[in-house]
Amino acid sequence: MQSLTRRMALKLFALGTTFFGFKKTTALTAAESESAAPVIGRWKKTNDRVWLGEEFWANPMEDWRIIDGAAECLSTGGSRNIQLLTHQLTNPKASFTMSVHVSQVEVKQQDGGVGFRIGVKSDINEYRSNCFAKSGIKAGVVNGKLILGNKEQKLKQPVDLKNCVLTVIGKPEGEKYSLTLMVSGSESDKPLDTISHTFPPQAVLGNVAVVSNFDPRFKRMIGARYRFSDWSVSGDAFTVSPEHEFGPILWSMYSLSDSRSKDGFVMKISALTGPLGEKDNKDIELQIEQDGKWKSLGTAPLDTDAWTATFRIANWNEKEKTPFKLIYKEQHSDGSESIAERTGIIRANPTGRPLKLGALTCQKDYGFPYEPVANNLLKVDPDLLYFSGDQLYEDHGGFGLIRDPAEPAILNYLRKYYMHGMAFGEAMRDRPTICIPDDHDVFQGNIWGEGGKKMVEGTTSSNGGYREPARMVNVVHKTCAGHHPDYYDPTPCLQNISVYYGDMVYGDVGFAILGDRQFKSGPEHVETGSGRADHVTDPNFDTSKLDKPGLELLGDRQEKFLEHWCDDWRGHTIKVLFSQTVFAGVATHHGGYDGYLKADLDCGSWPQTARNRAVRIIRKGMPLHINGDQHLTTLSQYGADEQRDSCWSFCTPAISAGYPRWWRPDEVGMEHENRPKHGLPNTGEYIDGFGNKVYVYAVGNPEPASKKNRYDLAHQKGSGFGLVLIDPKEKTYTLHSYRFLVDATDGKASNEFPGWPVTIHQKENGGETKLIS
Ligand SMILES: [Fe+2]
Repeated sequence: MQSLTRRMALKLFALGTTFFGFKKTTALTAAESESAAPVIGRWKKTNDRVWLGEEFWANPMEDWRIIDGAAECLSTGGSRNIQLLTHQLTNPKASFTMSVHVSQVEVKQQDGGVGFRIGVKSDINEYRSNCFAKSGIKAGVVNGKLILGNKEQKLKQPVDLKNCVLTVIGKPEGEKYSLTLMVSGSESDKPLDTISHTFPPQAVLGNVAVVSNFDPRFKRMIGARYRFSDWSVSGDAFTVSPEHEFGPILWSMYSLSDSRSKDGFVMKISALTGPLGEKDNKDIELQIEQDGKWKSLGTAPLDTDAWTATFRIANWNEKEKTPFKLIYKEQHSDGSESIAERTGIIRANPTGRPLKLGALTCQKDYGFPYEPVANNLLKVDPDLLYFSGDQLYEDHGGFGLIRDPAEPAILNYLRKYYMHGMAFGEAMRDRPTICIPDDHDVFQGNIWGEGGKKMVEGTTSSNGGYREPARMVNVVHKTCAGHHPDYYDPTPCLQNISVYYGDMVYGDVGFAILGDRQFKSGPEHVETGSGRADHVTDPNFDTSKLDKPGLELLGDRQEKFLEHWCDDWRGHTIKVLFSQTVFAGVATHHGGYDGYLKADLDCGSWPQTARNRAVRIIRKGMPLHINGDQHLTTLSQYGADEQRDSCWSFCTPAISAGYPRWWRPDEVGMEHENRPKHGLPNTGEYIDGFGNKVYVYAVGNPEPASKKNRYDLAHQKGSGFGLVLIDPKEKTYTLHSYRFLVDATDGKASNEFPGWPVTIHQKENGGETKLIS
């Protein structure tokens, strides 16, 4: 096939004007003919499996398989496609050739066609974001017609769609760019038919993809489905970027913690691969560099649900930075083998100096791949990353949500989660990562976990329990937190759903990691009077009625853990508490600018008695509480018995804020006392919608959304990230809340939300000292 395609390409170029009506004949240069038609990927010798290979992004992954050496679409739905990650059309002054062998597998009601999309690009024409763009020039066969952009012509002779080759040739033509599509049988290089058209050069720039059923409106049971093989791509119009490859080890995440046991420092690392096949190798090897030599630390098996392999290495030498390699040896169906590596650095334990923490939350995919945030992280070089949840949303990357059964639901989840790795894989390479799942990660709009109970009825935003199969929930936990330091008490909760709360000692700092919704009581235990189980909208509603005896926030197990943790000062002198959300109701408006809400049962201010119990427990350990979830950055201090008698809370900005929230208490007449000296609006001591005490020191309210460009929009919506310098010597935390579209290293005051940066002393988290006023 490879040589056939190349021959055809040469012939087509040579034919020039006479065959295609080109105005000018462009002879193929020596370089072009040399590089003509290399087949991308290795489908021919890949074992049957879901994951198509590191050169590709399949839309959606769960609808594609490698079967018998070709990439086959399992869905007859519309616009199923495979994007090429490694080749982008960037130079309209040069030519390109692309061909693919196609084979129709079945047609349901109507054939939605087959072929290429050329010039697939998002508003920012960046290769990862382009993978989800709906644009591009169609070039293929649909319903007996050749289609090229908006031009179509009836096929002159029948074409066997079960076995044919589509070839596109692009070349500059004056001010325009010409494309020629040719269809031929697989056994002969004689074109059966061709169509040519010219386009503005800009139109061809971007990604290229192969498509099964062009029409995105085709539902699953309507269209046809196709197999693709021998996809070849060549020409100087392409920029080839092998660094865009994603896999077989997609990314890795690690943690390093002083176990304060015979195990010493324990390093744990997970490698994540795409879903592999039954016949594929399922072991990952870990090597580290010591004294200039690579040394194997053995292999770990891939979990065949989560596709993670996790190593736990006790008595790690935390004093040295240690280069590592994760190695995957892929055995092919022809007996050959290829070896892929993911390299990185395990940092030395950052002791004797302040620890720099990057704190992040909530990735709504309109802002994917969040480059301004990801690049700022690389620039500011934190010692530790913390993702506090909503690494994805249910609609991430399009193509729908699969809730049941577990197996396809898992693939649906993994595909969405992989976008997290695509965006932040570089940042996670060389520094420890703590990553906890929140509601959207388990496909729920809200979550009140009820200790793992199965959700019996209602929508995912209005009832307690887990909607998804426990097996899928456990994959979420494993892919996010499988590499965390050993959990405090790993006994699973109901339905055998795993728990992940525990602690970490890193860089003279003690961290507690909570799942603050996993044991929380559901809203069906109370009546909000709003018709919506989670929202109180009536400003006169008496929310004290929502505080019933026996309702849980953190749950008994996590409360006991926190009591222990607050008394445990081994190996550290300053503490940080990680959880998903803030233990106060610091949003007055939700959804729309005027969407007033008195109280939201999904925040950590409810249930009140359990919230106050938690706030009283943690003040003993004086941790700074760092959380996310809200899409609204706030800096506040909890009060249980009195205002400001417990910890400070830093709710970090969303990486890319979706559903907007505002804290505008002044506007709705909420009373305040002791406004901070800076005099910023909406700050001071408040009683929140649930009657809880909270001192709000700073807030980063968003603007209503209007911008078109994804990054401008994310910036406008109050997105960004948190950076915290934790100084164990000075016993201080210096907090930065950075906006989205900034250079966090250029020192401009406008980089941060109003009120930041702020330095808090450890003792202020105990509630006794109030240095900040
Ligand atoms: Fe969120």
